[in-house]
Amino acid sequence: TVPEGIHSPSDYLPYAKERLPPEIWRYLEEGSANNVSLQANPHAFDSIHLIPRPLSDVRSGHTKITLFGQTLAHPVILAPLAYQQLYHPHGESASAMAASAQEGQSCVSSLASQTLEDIISAAGQPLWFQLYWQENRERTLKLLQRTIAAGYNAIIFTVDAPVKQATIQLPTTIQPINLDLPAPFPALLPQQSQVFNGWMAQAPRWEDLAWLRDQTSLPLLVKGILHSEDAEKVINLGCDGLVVSNHGGRVLDGTPASLACLPPIVSAISGRGKVLFDSGIRNGRDIYKALALGADAVMVGRPYIWGLATAGALGVAHIIRLLRDELELTMALTGTASIQEITQEKIQISRNQNR
Ligand code: FNR
Repeated sequence: TVPEGIHSPSDYLPYAKERLPPEIWRYLEEGSANNVSLQANPHAFDSIHLIPRPLSDVRSGHTKITLFGQTLAHPVILAPLAYQQLYHPHGESASAMAASAQEGQSCVSSLASQTLEDIISAAGQPLWFQLYWQENRERTLKLLQRTIAAGYNAIIFTVDAPVKQATIQLPTTIQPINLDLPAPFPALLPQQSQVFNGWMAQAPRWEDLAWLRDQTSLPLLVKGILHSEDAEKVINLGCDGLVVSNHGGRVLDGTPASLACLPPIVSAISGRGKVLFDSGIRNGRDIYKALALGADAVMVGRPYIWGLATAGALGVAHIIRLLRDELELTMALTGTASIQEITQEKIQISRNQNR
């Protein structure tokens, strides 16, 4: 059940922490290396200021958006997070069900702990699928085709984590059950590099993205883009959009805050594709700020897992509702009646804060 006295998503944090074994909590919350990017993500929102616009008529206000032909009641999409049965026995199904109940969307990870088919049937609506490259084209295509057959209706291809670093020992009951066992790693010669000749030999390259684009007519977005030249390349290859993300500060430590990378990418794309944003969103004001900087929608990661760990599907649904309530309140206080009206003119960017 949902605890008393919850007013904002972060109120769930202590409950989730209390319920989870310490090593699982650490795996959820950790960043990479020195946590520089992890910490930069939420702080970046502090230098964006909201300007109240009292006396505005917002009685027609709403948070609806349309993405790839689907109308969503709000722009909060559940980010793909691996192995959700670590947090609750109902795992990914609970999260997907909650997103549906809140008339939103969720994205299922390649590393889900339940079958793609079970998750989509729990959701009762088409979902998005997050694709990780599966060593080669043949294996990747097999997974993509299974996803399409199961009824997923958009593909988010994550490219920022080509080197898999498992920082948690998974219990035998929780596994990436939708994936074939990895092929044995080719043996390296003594002078060869584990990184360049090992891991990166199985990582996707630009020509593989071009190939992937040709394999499906579903909307295809690339997740993990921080450079505006890469954003342009993604769009020029015919993708439908991208996710500006530093993977919640979990891969390359030392990247700028994800939010800092959003404006240049939005201007590089200039409306030729959808720009989604994630990493560091913790409340509805953060969502408003990301949209004001040009994002079309946002993804939220760790906060919904706090809800999942605390109260299963109900907790996730509550987190989504809290984020939406806070977004609505922010809109009302800033005289903003629709998502389209959330523009740069509504915010002030402070330049003396070096973040
Ligand atoms: C992730 N993320 C992630 N991304 C992805 O594309 N596939 C995945 O399997 C995972 N798995 C995963 C596990 C855990 C525990 C975390 C915290 C994150 C990244 C995720 O989709 C998203 O980019 C970040 O979580 C966004 O940052 P916040 O909202 O957590 O700050």
